Amino acid sequence: VQRILVRLPGRTYPILVGPGALGSLLPLAGRARVVVVSNARVMRLHGPVLRAGLGPAADDPVLVPDGERAKSRATLALLHDALLERGMARDGLVVAFGGGVVTDLAGFAAATWMRGMDWLAVPTTLLAMADAAVGGKVGINHPRGKNLIGAFHQPRAVVADTSLLSTLEPRQLRSGAYEVVKCGFIGDQRLLARLSNAGRPEGWSERLRADAVRGACRVKAEIVASDEREGGRRRLLNLGHTVGHALEAATGFHRLTHGEAVGWGLIAATRISRALGRLGLEDAARIERLVEAIGPRPSLRGIGPAEVMAAVSRDKKARAGRVPFILPTGYGRVDIVDDVPLEVVDAVVRELAVTPRSAGSAGSPSARAGGSRPRRTPRTAGRR
Ligand SMILES: NC(=O)c1ccc[n+]([C@@H]2O[C@H](COP(=O)([O-])OP(=O)(O)OC[C@H]3O[C@@H](n4cnc5c(N)ncnc54)[C@H](O)[C@@H]3O)[C@@H](O)[C@H]2O)c1
Ligand SMILES: [Zn+2]
Repeated sequence: VQRILVRLPGRTYPILVGPGALGSLLPLAGRARVVVVSNARVMRLHGPVLRAGLGPAADDPVLVPDGERAKSRATLALLHDALLERGMARDGLVVAFGGGVVTDLAGFAAATWMRGMDWLAVPTTLLAMADAAVGGKVGINHPRGKNLIGAFHQPRAVVADTSLLSTLEPRQLRSGAYEVVKCGFIGDQRLLARLSNAGRPEGWSERLRADAVRGACRVKAEIVASDEREGGRRRLLNLGHTVGHALEAATGFHRLTHGEAVGWGLIAATRISRALGRLGLEDAARIERLVEAIGPRPSLRGIGPAEVMAAVSRDKKARAGRVPFILPTGYGRVDIVDDVPLEVVDAVVRELAVTPRSAGSAGSPSARAGGSRPRRTPRTAGRR
């Protein structure tokens, strides 16, 4: 089990990664009164391992519904009720045991109970280990939009026991793997090289899974430490997310998992960069191959490009027909570009909407709209 430190002003906390990491739970919980928040599926599969690591506190978890619908105001209210009934005060501890849905929701309940109580993030999906549980963003959905109600509330620690991933559906593994690829791309060339010939994540060795989570956490921890509230560098973590979020919204959050949307978003960002003349043909093809190597994603056929574009503009507050984007500018290089013409984005989205399957034709002649070259922001990500 390895330790990665997230160094924040005034507060440093560890991420423990590797098979067997759950064994460190009890010392982390200390003497605090504990409430475990999880769902029935995760408890059925891994309750005994949690019990072995945490002791009797694991016996009476608060269970929330499975899936995204649990990130609701109604479920949050139930959690607050449970915290009250169990007499939790600010010196108590919430242990969030599940995927990103559970860590977002339980972390937000902890953030809002008595103006903030401690919590431990114990992610059980690849996506949550590599992304959702790291960085301190917590929250729930509003009926009108995802993650609209939230806070920054860093956990006491993140405990990512990668042996739990053995029960995850291949589709959920792939979903997390797109985020791992993203992290490798913006900050870890070695990880990127390993992923580029590792095949699909359902075939990754236990060792590679642990290394992938570790690599992603290192990149994320380092970026979050330099910019906790997303004023600057933390925006790099949004690579693939501008179009990704828009695709999720335009498909009603049903067709694609978050990670799959990010996979498509990475392809979109690659083609946009290509269309702007900021990325060479060979690098573009290499990036698309890297994404496709993770495996298939549901097709985008039939999505409404207009709806996707409406979501992009809403999300990015388009000004004078231009939007900020994180774009790959080489293999393992990204830039923040502040003024990408919407018409370039639109052309790429239209192209993706007619792509038959996820097996994108790497390096296909991409959209050639616009033609004006956006200027570079002075804040350049550079090679890392
Ligand atoms: N806070 C952040 O920075 C951040 C970042 C990315 C994503 N997110 C959020 O994360 C959520 C998605 O998280 P997710 O992909 O983990 O989805 P999820 O939490 O819905 O989990 C996916 C499915 O896997 C099941 N599951 C969990 N662990 C399992 C295991 N070990 N074996 C078998 N099945 C298991 C879950 O019960 C669920 O059915 C979204 O709500 C998204 O907004 C947050
Ligand atoms: Zn994401």
